[in-house]
Amino acid sequence: MEIIIQPTAAAANRVAARLFANVIRQKPSAVLGMATGGTPLALYRELVALQLDWRKITTFNLDEYVGLAPAHSQSYHSFMWENLFRHVNIARKNVHLPDGRAKDIPKFCAKYERQIRAAGGIDLQLLGIGTEGHIGFNEPTSSLASRTRIKTLTPQTRKDNARFFGSEEQVPHHCITMGIGTILDTRHCVLLAFGSNKARAIAAAVEGPVTSMNPASALQLHPKTTVFLDEAAAAELKLQDYYRWVYDHKPDWQKI
Ligand code: PGA
Repeated sequence: MEIIIQPTAAAANRVAARLFANVIRQKPSAVLGMATGGTPLALYRELVALQLDWRKITTFNLDEYVGLAPAHSQSYHSFMWENLFRHVNIARKNVHLPDGRAKDIPKFCAKYERQIRAAGGIDLQLLGIGTEGHIGFNEPTSSLASRTRIKTLTPQTRKDNARFFGSEEQVPHHCITMGIGTILDTRHCVLLAFGSNKARAIAAAVEGPVTSMNPASALQLHPKTTVFLDEAAAAELKLQDYYRWVYDHKPDWQKI
């Protein structure tokens, strides 16, 4: 894992945006895994400002709430079109999100996995982290080998996401999420975490044991994961001075 600690979230997002831009420029037909929530918003703004060519880009989102129609204001479909897709020249047919209204959910999930494979797999997967360590909506105790499937949100996740819905009662109980196995199959994972409320989950994910109690810790098994943090999210890392030294002394050919 590469841990990049920046003084602020804004600085971290600028470096992360360069990484995404490099992939989009070097591989115009890249397959990107997208994330939602508060964390990726600034990165998406940076990417829009860079005016990249998205015509041949394909995207797959991590997750969606079960029961919400795409047009619902809090669906992740709406989130993605509002915050990224409508601002770039992506082709609608290349955009994929789980269908929260699928009648046969297991069948839909198997199809989503097939679509990812048919697209050639995901080149770059963006991830946020939940306060209890989830990636996508893979809640604690998710199988580390899991594929796209239905999950039940924990009370903590529903509480964390109540801010988007107005009240906790309105947050759906179920979601469709790519599995941890699906995420581990991607070629490069980029995990973003900002703010002190993520410090504990980040320390456990990066420096703790690999355990389904902190699903993000499974990224220790991934051959190429880059973690972007601000100071607050990095605060509980034991080796933070080492990570800073490594980043400050990267050889030129490795610089982002
Ligand atoms: P947040 O959520 O970006 O809204 O903090 C992250 C996540 O749940 O993965």
